[in-house]
Amino acid sequence: MRSTAMKILVVGSGGREHAMAWKLARSARVAQVLVAPGNAGTAIEPGVRNVPGGSPEALLQMALDEGVDFTVVGPEAPLAAGIVDLFEARGLRIFGPTRQAAQLESSKDFAKQFLVRHGIATAHHATFSDAQAAHAWVSSHGAPIVVKADGLAAGKGVVVALEEADAHAAIDRMLVGNAFGDAGARVVIEEFLAGEEASFIVVVDGLRVVPLATSQDHKRLLDHDQGPNTGGMGAYSPAPVVTAALHERVMREVIGPTLAGLAAEGIRYRGFLYAGLMINAAGEPKVLEFNCRLGDPETQPIMMRLSSDLLDLLEAALDGTLGDVQPLWDPRPALGVVLAAAGYPDAPRQGDLVSVEPVTDPEVHVFHAGTRLEDDRCISSGGRVLCVTALGADIGQAQSRAYTAIAGVHFAGVQYRRDIGSRALKTS
Ligand code: AMP
Ligand code: GLY
Repeated sequence: MRSTAMKILVVGSGGREHAMAWKLARSARVAQVLVAPGNAGTAIEPGVRNVPGGSPEALLQMALDEGVDFTVVGPEAPLAAGIVDLFEARGLRIFGPTRQAAQLESSKDFAKQFLVRHGIATAHHATFSDAQAAHAWVSSHGAPIVVKADGLAAGKGVVVALEEADAHAAIDRMLVGNAFGDAGARVVIEEFLAGEEASFIVVVDGLRVVPLATSQDHKRLLDHDQGPNTGGMGAYSPAPVVTAALHERVMREVIGPTLAGLAAEGIRYRGFLYAGLMINAAGEPKVLEFNCRLGDPETQPIMMRLSSDLLDLLEAALDGTLGDVQPLWDPRPALGVVLAAAGYPDAPRQGDLVSVEPVTDPEVHVFHAGTRLEDDRCISSGGRVLCVTALGADIGQAQSRAYTAIAGVHFAGVQYRRDIGSRALKTS
């Protein structure tokens, strides 16, 4: 008998967490979803309640006090800090990789060495803590070239340098100027890969995997992939670039060897595993990075397309019975457009009044990210403020529904891309 009337805790405060909480609250088996700390959107979502955020220890205490039955972790930082180890040691059920397994995301050098050890295709690279040696490697390889802080840097630690001078400057910022503190005390420098990106996310139960619907993010701030890298300005699902043949190849050449490699190294992995892929003109996938969590904003369209129960899937993964469940997907595509604050990504302004007209279209959902409620007013409190997400009969309709809904959202200095989904439109 599967339990019912469950109390679920979602850790995090972004659009990804709002989408997960929204989806979990629709499960017949869920009585209430707590989000720590959540945002203004989760504060008013039916069946969802915000609770204070905090350290893994503080969250553990809160989960014990509240009698939480099952916890899902949204962002990477608590995973890298060992929240799963901590909850499990107290016998609490929590979905996500342990601190050791989360190194696939929390150290780019660890991930690169892992990829190389297990023969998984990735950009040629070298790791440095010495600035002089790093400069010399860049000089001998030339631009374009990519410089990455080894540790977690909230999506800001990657510089795709089109000019050699930009790579040298990035090395100086990270290794000499300590721009990212310990996270940038080592840098991974790697070959620039050209192609189209896709987000390939799977659920792992330690042994088996179930792939989620594919998706594609839009990393650059501005239309036509111009401007600085961001956490992601919009996403859609599915990603047409991932054809059935490529899907099969990624499972065989990337996901399979990754699981086998983890098992061979005695690392238990349970959680979401996100392979960021670059697919070249010949259709060959290479791994750009691993994340040990769902993507943001990819989760928003993915959750809108998931028609089966999310809790069933996550519980099966935690119990090691993934073989018994198959997620069901709405065949219609979904697309989300991120509305970011003025100054994002470098210095996002906070404190702007955000007004969101009520949405009546059931195929549209405004997921909140950097917002908080202050005396019943919605105030911006982060770089990515909202993600307006819509389903459509085709990607064009999903796109026009999302952009139509954006007309009902207002805040000073809003920035958003006008071309989310244009790649998919070209290939469909
Ligand atoms: P990462 O956090 O490693 O995925 O890097 C962030 C973004 O930088 C990626 O989504 C790509 O858009 C870009 N990027 C990272 N590595 C490379 C590479 N080797 N070649 C080209 N672009 C890259
Ligand atoms: N959207 C990219 C990420 O979540 O890492």
